[in-house]
Amino acid sequence: MQIFIDTANIADIKKWYQTGIIDGITTNPTHLSAEGANPKEQILEICAIVKDGTVSVEVTEKEPEALYRQAKEIAALASNIVVKIPCHVDYFPVIKRLGAEGVPINATLIFSLSQALAAAKYSVRYISLFVGRCDDIGIDGIDLLGQICGAIHGHAFESKVLSASLRTVRQLQESIDSGADIATVPVEVLAKSLNHPLLTAGIETFNRDWQKLGIKQFP
Ligand code: E4P
Repeated sequence: MQIFIDTANIADIKKWYQTGIIDGITTNPTHLSAEGANPKEQILEICAIVKDGTVSVEVTEKEPEALYRQAKEIAALASNIVVKIPCHVDYFPVIKRLGAEGVPINATLIFSLSQALAAAKYSVRYISLFVGRCDDIGIDGIDLLGQICGAIHGHAFESKVLSASLRTVRQLQESIDSGADIATVPVEVLAKSLNHPLLTAGIETFNRDWQKLGIKQFP
């Protein structure tokens, strides 16, 4: 299973990418806007840091033909970019066309099994289910994730199921449990998920006991 971080912040990307546990980055217009920098330069910098992972970059155009052209331009920025396109029926012809032209696509803003199935039929690279936003409106996002994983994996589609819009450690753990191929997490959630009170207590206990020996150098 792969772990992506959901951010456009360069410092966070550098910090987490060097750990070696991060397989890619998902950005969106909200993340890029929050950074306040030139979005093209920001994306190029991210792509250069994340050399052997993918960087998902979302289109911002609305009209299908303009969106198609923008998607091609975004894809041409770097070889590791996956273009995020809202999984809306108005954009299905564009997704089909881009797919046929070999542009890797992340079908985003997915909230239903039908949307996921449609995206899989276009062989998109990633099917991004927004678990957190489902939970926000009383739809069980993790339950839906399980259904989508069952359908996509059960029918041997080549698309990867990406659990997105995660806000809690529990959602991350349940995404792993539900069979998602990838989970994209905010860095705060990732950091929390790797902390455990028994871990810090264990390190302190071993340190304290070791000090009792009074040894200066080991080995
Ligand atoms: C996924 O690729 C999106 O960038 C992201 O997970 C959206 O999360 P949000 O619902 O917290 O905005």
